[in-house]
Amino acid sequence: MSTTQLPNIASLRPNFIWGVSTSSFQIEGATQEDGRGPSVWDVYCQRGEIKNHDTGDVACDHYHRYREDVGLMKTLGVQAYRFSIAWPRVLPLGCGSANEAGLSFYDRLVDELLAAGIEPWLCLYHWDLPQALEERGGWFNRESTVWFADYTALVAARFGDRVKRFATFNEPSMFSLFNHSLGKRDRGSEAQFHRMIHNVNLAHGAAVDVLRAKVAGASIGCIHNLQPCRPSSSSEADALAAANLNVYWNYAFPDPQCRGEYPSSMRSAIEPYMQPGDLARICRPLDWFGLNHYSPVYVKSRPDSMLGYDFGEKPAGVPLTPIEWPIEPEAFRETLQLVHARYGLPIYVLENGYGSFEQPDQTGAVIDSGRIDMLRAYIGAMNSAAASGVDVRGYFVWSLLDNFEWDSGYSVRFGLTYVDYASLRRIPKSSFRWYADLIRASHP
Ligand code: FCB
Repeated sequence: MSTTQLPNIASLRPNFIWGVSTSSFQIEGATQEDGRGPSVWDVYCQRGEIKNHDTGDVACDHYHRYREDVGLMKTLGVQAYRFSIAWPRVLPLGCGSANEAGLSFYDRLVDELLAAGIEPWLCLYHWDLPQALEERGGWFNRESTVWFADYTALVAARFGDRVKRFATFNEPSMFSLFNHSLGKRDRGSEAQFHRMIHNVNLAHGAAVDVLRAKVAGASIGCIHNLQPCRPSSSSEADALAAANLNVYWNYAFPDPQCRGEYPSSMRSAIEPYMQPGDLARICRPLDWFGLNHYSPVYVKSRPDSMLGYDFGEKPAGVPLTPIEWPIEPEAFRETLQLVHARYGLPIYVLENGYGSFEQPDQTGAVIDSGRIDMLRAYIGAMNSAAASGVDVRGYFVWSLLDNFEWDSGYSVRFGLTYVDYASLRRIPKSSFRWYADLIRASHP
């Protein structure tokens, strides 16, 4: 297949939204500038936990280069840009006095986007919790609902005149599962883990209420990553482990938020933290479902771990990305169908992408045909889902730029744009041009 060939998008809505996504800690840098407070991720980096001892201190230097980055988006032709606010940049201690310089940065970014005709999609929380709040118990503390609501009120009052699309959380299952159940860092007890799930859900509900009250015409959702959890062998133990992880990874947050109930298998574990009225506080009307999806995960039983699982072998013969994530577009179609059937909300795919290690060739060009092939297959699968009746209204590539990929630091590249971290120069990859062609073909 020619690398320039576009997928079939005939079943997508005429006003379908194409976008790109990023997050604050992964691109901004300037972690100690203009009064920003430290976040939990600054602390993990200082502890040397990240590959190559990378940190977020400079990242893509988006804090200073946001104009150039909005220019890239304009060239791409995207209708929308999803970014997150760094909570400790606008509230250095997490609550209390706001930091005017931090708020002004997001003013400039939002104004630049609007001037370029790009709709800002603002995510309130992409994992960079203010360290000061972590020291007060973070999400284990039920008080976090109040901290998050107050932070949301500040953001709503400041940006609600220009921003209408709000997401409360990015992938709540990720920061709870990986920080805790796999014991990667801050290993908590099983009790704390369930307390945290419930508190994050309460914070979501509180933030929705604040946004509805303060932003006229707000369009609100939460962003969940649903990745089917499949057993890595035919053993009964692995099947049970996969089914258990499936509940925590895929349903622990969207079920209470969108259906007003926890999955039955986790109810007794949540019960000790449940207060009268909590489910009604969590389940507030939403305008859309934000879906992040990459690939299925293959699970094996590990009885000594908190939730009894670990990651197992992927099935032989499944194609993998360079970072060994399975390429299974059918799983994407099935996930879209599942979300549609289970939650009944319009869906925006707010992340999908391809992680690799590409470098410029001798001419300085960055040719990433593997990414193009994967995006083509996944967008084709989304089109099939739409043809089967799934109400999918937008698709955002992760990510505009190569960036700080959490524990992998800068070693893994997800961008449509290559970032040379020594010079911070941006080089659009071949996938950038391909995506621009697709958007032009979709919105002639
Ligand atoms: C998602 C995260 C995002 C990015 C991609 C690759 O889980 O939301 O920040 O790291 O994975």
